[in-house]
Amino acid sequence: MCCRYAVVTGANRGMGLEICRQLASNGVMVVLTARDEKKGIEALEKLKENGLSDLVVFHQLDVLDPSTIASLADFIQTQFGRLDILVNNAAIGAITVDTEALKASTGVGLQYLLLLPFIQVLLPLLLLSDSPRIVNVSSTAGKLQYVSHEWDVGLLSDAENLSEDKVDEILTEFMKDFKEDHLETKNWPYLSLSIHLIESCHECLHEDTSEDTSILND
Ligand SMILES: NC(=O)c1ccc[n+]([C@@H]2O[C@H](COP(=O)([O-])OP(=O)(O)OC[C@H]3O[C@@H](n4cnc5c(N)ncnc54)[C@H](OP(=O)(O)O)[C@@H]3O)[C@@H](O)[C@H]2O)c1
Repeated sequence: MCCRYAVVTGANRGMGLEICRQLASNGVMVVLTARDEKKGIEALEKLKENGLSDLVVFHQLDVLDPSTIASLADFIQTQFGRLDILVNNAAIGAITVDTEALKASTGVGLQYLLLLPFIQVLLPLLLLSDSPRIVNVSSTAGKLQYVSHEWDVGLLSDAENLSEDKVDEILTEFMKDFKEDHLETKNWPYLSLSIHLIESCHECLHEDTSEDTSILND
């Protein structure tokens, strides 16, 4: 049996698939996940052709679908009893946002677009590991240098005092201005960039900031 267990999201193609290949090549037991079962199984077959069949399994996962998240957590619990590495690679930033539905939503509303619910479900399994690690694959689009909205840049730049509550505060303010059509007048970056930024910030609260994980950022 191998010594470490990993989950990679959005792993049927691109960087996710390569991350699976490299983790398995280094002896890590990898759960290759994809929202489309057929695509995921095809990707698994590719890795099996490379002789990695003992170290890669497939499980369906749409990171925005709570039922698939729960099913994945059950699978990991049953098969491995813990999780050591979570690689958040799925490109949810590329999702087309239904702005009208978002405006009509109550509460913070953006939460469903974020990875937080997903991470929260897997966190108890990660906490069973001796050395849990969350790796977030992000984009330069989430960098604070592209944001001219002073209040949130101030809060987010203070990394030592950054908390989930502070990120939620920014998210709430953003949603308020979004619903009132004030994003432009209040200097928020355009919608998708704002989402990406907030998403990245939520991720940063849970990430290992050591140098070796940053290689996955572009
Ligand atoms: N490649 C770049 O130059 C670049 C630049 C900046 C940032 N990034 C970031 O790097 C990561 C990987 O990039 P990539 O170029 O390898 O991406 P990619 O080839 O576009 O693959 C994206 C993966 O995410 C999956 N995905 C999308 N929505 C999902 C959802 N709701 N649940 C589960 N999986 C979902 C896609 O599944 P389907 O096949 O079903 O669509 C696909 O497997 C992304 O997070 C991206 O934002 C990449």
